[in-house]
Amino acid sequence: MACPPEVTISAVDADGEYPGLAGRAFAPVAAGRSAAPATAGSVLQAAATCWLVVTGLGQSMFVAYLLGFYGRTAIQGRFDAWNQVFPRSHVAGDTLHDTVVAMHLAFAALITVGGLLQLMTGVRRWFPRFHRWNGRVYLVSAFVMGLGGLAMVWTGTHVGDLPQQVAISINAVLIMLCAVMVLRHALARRFALHRRWALRLFLVVSGVWFFRIGLTFWIMLNGGPLGFDPDTFTGPALTTIAFAQYLLPLAMLQLYFYAQDRAGPRGRVLMACGLFASTLVTAAGIVAASMMLWLPHLH
Ligand code: HEM
Repeated sequence: MACPPEVTISAVDADGEYPGLAGRAFAPVAAGRSAAPATAGSVLQAAATCWLVVTGLGQSMFVAYLLGFYGRTAIQGRFDAWNQVFPRSHVAGDTLHDTVVAMHLAFAALITVGGLLQLMTGVRRWFPRFHRWNGRVYLVSAFVMGLGGLAMVWTGTHVGDLPQQVAISINAVLIMLCAVMVLRHALARRFALHRRWALRLFLVVSGVWFFRIGLTFWIMLNGGPLGFDPDTFTGPALTTIAFAQYLLPLAMLQLYFYAQDRAGPRGRVLMACGLFASTLVTAAGIVAASMMLWLPHLH
C-alpha cells in the first residue's frame, strides 16, 4: 500500500494534469492574500487521502480473505468448503453454476486489487502504460462482476430477500453505467470528467465491501443483530445497508466534489471533518468485518 503522499483522490493532480477542474484550494496563493483557501484545500486533500489509505488497507484485508480462503480451498480441491460461508456457491455436477461463481470470486480479487492500483498517483505517473492496461482490465472486470452478479441474484444463488436483490441489482447497473462513462470520457480525452467517473466507479464497485463493513459495524455497535433476523438474513436494517452501500459513498463523493469546486475555506474544512469522521467509522467497520467475517476463515 502506498504511503499517503503517493495517493490522491483529488480531481486535480499535484502535477496539474487536469486544470479544467482546478478548485481554489489548489490554486497558488497570490502574494498578500490570505493563505486560508490553500490551507483548507490541503486539509481537505489530507482527509481524503487518509480515508483512501484506510480503505486501501481494509480492501487488502478483503483480498487476503478471498485468496486465503477461496483461493486456498480451490487449490486444495475443497470446493465444498465454500458452501460454509457462501450458501449454494458449489453445486456438485452443475459446472455452469460453479464456473460463474468461481469467476465472480476470482474477479472480486482482481477488481479490488486493480481499483486500488488505479487510484495511486505514483502508479499513474510512473507507470502510465500499466495504468492504461490495468484500467482496461478493470472496466472488463466491472462488466464481468455486474453481469455475473445479476445472474447469481436472479437465479437463486444469493442470501436475503427481494429488497436486497433489488438493491444489489441497482448496484450492478451503476457499476456498468459508471464503467461506460469512464471509458467515454477517457476516449474523448476529457480527463477531469474521466477521473470523477473513475472515482464513482471505484465507490460502486466497492459497494459489496461497504456492505460487509457496514453490517459488521452495525452488529458491533449494537452488540448483536438489531433490526434483522440473522437466520433468514432479512429485516429493515439489512435493506437500509443494502441501499446505503453505494448511495452513501456516492453522496459523500458528490459533497467532496462540491467542496473542491465551490465551497469556501469553511466549507472545505467542514467536508474534511466529515471525511475524517468517515475514516474512523470505516476503520471500525474494517476491524469488525475482519474479526467477524474474514480472519476466522484464514487458518
Ligand atoms: C464488483 C465488486 C464485487 C465484489 C468484490 C464481490 C465479491 C463477492 C464475494 C467475495 C462473494 C462471496 C461471499 C463472501 O465470501 O463474502 C460474493 C457473493 C455474491 N455476490 Fe458479489 N461481488 C461484487 C459485485 C457483485 C454484484 C454487482 C452483484 C449483483 C448484482 C453480486 C452478487 C453476489 C451474490 C448474489 C453473491 C452470493 C451471496 C450473497 O447473496 O450475498 N456481487 N460477492
